[in-house]
Amino acid sequence: MTRVFSGIKPTGHLTLGNYLGAMRQWATLDQHRSEALFCIVDLHALTVDHDPARVRRLSRQAATLLLASGLDPALCTVFVQSHVDEHARLSYLLECVATDGEMRRMIQYKEKAARERRRGGSVRLSLLTYPVLMAADILAYGTDEVPVGQDQTQHVELARDLAVRFNQRYGHTFVVPRATNPPVAARVMNLQDPLSKMGKSDDTGPGIVYVLDEPDVARKKVMRAVTDSGRDVVYDREARPGVANLLEILAACSGGDPEALAGAYASYGDLKRDAAEAVVEVLRPVRERHRELCADPGHVEGVLRDGAERARAMARPTVDAAYRAIGLLPAASGAGAPVLNAAR
Ligand code: AMP
Ligand code: TRP
Repeated sequence: MTRVFSGIKPTGHLTLGNYLGAMRQWATLDQHRSEALFCIVDLHALTVDHDPARVRRLSRQAATLLLASGLDPALCTVFVQSHVDEHARLSYLLECVATDGEMRRMIQYKEKAARERRRGGSVRLSLLTYPVLMAADILAYGTDEVPVGQDQTQHVELARDLAVRFNQRYGHTFVVPRATNPPVAARVMNLQDPLSKMGKSDDTGPGIVYVLDEPDVARKKVMRAVTDSGRDVVYDREARPGVANLLEILAACSGGDPEALAGAYASYGDLKRDAAEAVVEVLRPVRERHRELCADPGHVEGVLRDGAERARAMARPTVDAAYRAIGLLPAASGAGAPVLNAAR
């Protein structure tokens, strides 16, 4: 059976971009057709300036929202990255396979590091090595497919490269994974700045629809979206990024095709109205289920505890195999174990 792994960072409230680009696919598709793991990647939230209490709160909220979006612990494994030591254990080995040049070429690193420096801040070393930890997340589970939004493609490519390199040098250990993207809305753009991704860590609130926004708030944000000059509704990501974004959001929410939908609208106003309603309707059941789950925090905690246990059992053999393959001496498991005489 295909093994699927994906993750989400607790660095901010989850957005419509997270939902359409990743979470919805996990719930409607991936958990049903594969052996799937979904992870709140909290260690990744420490790569930028962070508030410990907020990371804890957002981790809990992300877990609750994943369940609210339809992930079913009977079908998939939901867990928190820091509860499973194997991620950090494997990350170090992969740092010994990756190169610093490779890390410095990562687009997200370049962008985030530049932004941090512009603000006069310092860049955490973990921001540079972050894609290696992400590769460890993926490779520890023998993952075949990584369902992500488009912004993560380069990171998954790196995981592929590291898997291939490790296997060539030290013997076959890792499955070589590949990224999958949703057919539309793989890159939802900021409604106020359609040339930038709708990112949850950005502070431009009006352009970001959060999964937990009240319907009226979400509706207003879509109605106030920046559109392009021109009046006819055409689907052209280059020339009309604002309108293209709305068409993609509408298509993703209503199950249509952005190009075909463009032909159905005579004005930007009608398009915005329908997109706003479609967004509100798509998010409504998630918000409602989230409210129910918040009333039962013990349930979410139990899911995460079981999830971590299952994940640990799945990751351990692969990570142990990687430790042996790279040349580390296995620890003696009992008194007098003849480890030093072992063949490898
Ligand atoms: P992150 O918020 O960076 O932890 O991302 C979690 C998942 O959501 C990843 O698969 C991202 O690619 C996806 N994602 C985040 N923002 C967007 C967006 N604006 N459009 C589409 N997918 C997104
Ligand atoms: N880097 C991803 C993001 O920013 C989150 C992530 C971490 C991830 N580890 C992962 C996604 C493993 C997929 C698989 O969105």
